[in-house]
Amino acid sequence: MSIRTIVTEGDPVLNKRCHPVTKFDEKLADLLDDLKETLTNANGLGLAAPQIGILRRVTVAVNEKNEMVELVNPEIVESDGEQDGLEGCLSVPGMWGFVKRPNHVKVKAQDRSGNWFEVEGTGLTARCYCHELEHLDGHLYVEHVKKLYTNDELDEMMAKQEADE
Ligand code: NI
Repeated sequence: MSIRTIVTEGDPVLNKRCHPVTKFDEKLADLLDDLKETLTNANGLGLAAPQIGILRRVTVAVNEKNEMVELVNPEIVESDGEQDGLEGCLSVPGMWGFVKRPNHVKVKAQDRSGNWFEVEGTGLTARCYCHELEHLDGHLYVEHVKKLYTNDELDEMMAKQEADE
């Protein structure tokens, strides 16, 4: 296992469509382990293979129980509701934006051995699944936002909101 370098916005690898995984081998297991270790080290909620320069449909995401879910060849099979909330990305460090997402999604994916399974998520977990799956099609959340906020701008806005309440 190793901590990999997370590529940032502007690197063309983030705008490419990833290839499906067809071999459930040691290389895939290593990729998943590296994604998990890199995500833990970065203290994030999700990380997709293209973010470490690998164009494969593989991602890991943290669920409601704070467990890391390994998703290989994932697809959203159901979604409902709507939420509007703040989102960030390890490939767009220090920036945040408001993005509308479904409030609940069901995702079908394969595990590291190739077995299909389904996971459901609501709220932040649903947001996380949507965000990570978009990475696999070469999209970043910044495409959905009207404005990006820096950490300082966000702190200022939160402080103002608290003062108003
Ligand atoms: Ni991201």
